[in-house]
Amino acid sequence: MNIGITYDLREAYLAEGYTEEETAEFDRADTIDAIDGALRELGHATDRIGHVRSLAARLVSGARWDLVFNIAEGLKGYGREAQVPALLDVYAIPYTFSDPLVLSLTLHKGMTKRVLRDMGIPTPDFVQVENPADVAGVALPFPVFAKPVAEGTGKGISSASKVRTRSELESVCRGLLLKYRQPVIVETFLPGRELTVGIVGTGEQAIAIGAMEVVLNGEAEPEVYSYFNKHNYESCVEYRLATDAVAQAAREVALSAWRGLGCADAGRVDVRVDADGIPNFLEVNPLAGLHPIHSDLPMLAGMAGIGYRELIGMIIDGAMRRHGLA
Ligand SMILES: Nc1ncnc2c1ncn2[C@@H]1O[C@H](COP(=O)(O)OP(=O)(O)OP(=O)(O)O)[C@@H](O)[C@H]1O
Ligand SMILES: [Mg+2]
Repeated sequence: MNIGITYDLREAYLAEGYTEEETAEFDRADTIDAIDGALRELGHATDRIGHVRSLAARLVSGARWDLVFNIAEGLKGYGREAQVPALLDVYAIPYTFSDPLVLSLTLHKGMTKRVLRDMGIPTPDFVQVENPADVAGVALPFPVFAKPVAEGTGKGISSASKVRTRSELESVCRGLLLKYRQPVIVETFLPGRELTVGIVGTGEQAIAIGAMEVVLNGEAEPEVYSYFNKHNYESCVEYRLATDAVAQAAREVALSAWRGLGCADAGRVDVRVDADGIPNFLEVNPLAGLHPIHSDLPMLAGMAGIGYRELIGMIIDGAMRRHGLA
């Protein structure tokens, strides 16, 4: 097949003057090299398209592909991850991973939680704070956790995100509102173990390939899988494949959320255990990082005995089946 690849290359945005943090979710050149290499090893011809504006220009000038491997996160708006899929839908070109509805919904952690709550999936209670005055109305028991409503890669998340008093909450929310220019989601703090569940497939065919426990050591910022800890994971974090009863329950919560939201092909669901020992849904990553060594999903797949090329092959096979290309 002739497979196009859409992505946001971090270097390109840094060269345009965006900061390290603004571009933290974007991909390194070696991630694109690895995906491209795996696709070619699987026998496909590849075409590196790049970001949504490059895609738009290529489409207008008549370029077409059998399938697009899409990992573009986009730059602006709640629909940023949905922009490439929406454009590909206009031209009826099939693509990997989720559609515009899912990618817009799941970027917004609050809206996603409302939908999952409706399905009876456990997720911490929350309040959306749009301005500092809203903090007065937060009726959750402390400690709470405050984070930007639509960021990833630990952006805006540090030990300070765990908040013990209302006055502290007001100052944390003020800081996040100012810096990220979007609402803050304030949740009940989950004190238990943290697991990220890898999922491959779509709907009834989806399987949880494993639950990876995130264990922070003495070097780490305590209690939170923060931006700093993610960035310095080699010295701060130990990752373990977990197979006990709690991990099994985490896999079930993750799979129900994945299916319920309609996510496609592969991704990760982050789960944390509440004070009663129940794994709760935190957030879903339907465009999970795919660096062969540093990203959680390939790492987890490796622990579960699935190599990088095999993982990319499973994503392509799943997408082809969904689109009737197989
Ligand atoms: N309600 C909560 N209670 C306790 N810890 C939490 C809570 N919400 C988030 N965290 C901590 O903050 C981390 C990051 O939160 P979350 O997964 O929502 O952010 P993210 O930046 O989108 O993550 P990713 O890098 O997976 O995209 C979690 O992995 C967890 O350690
Ligand atoms: Mg997360």
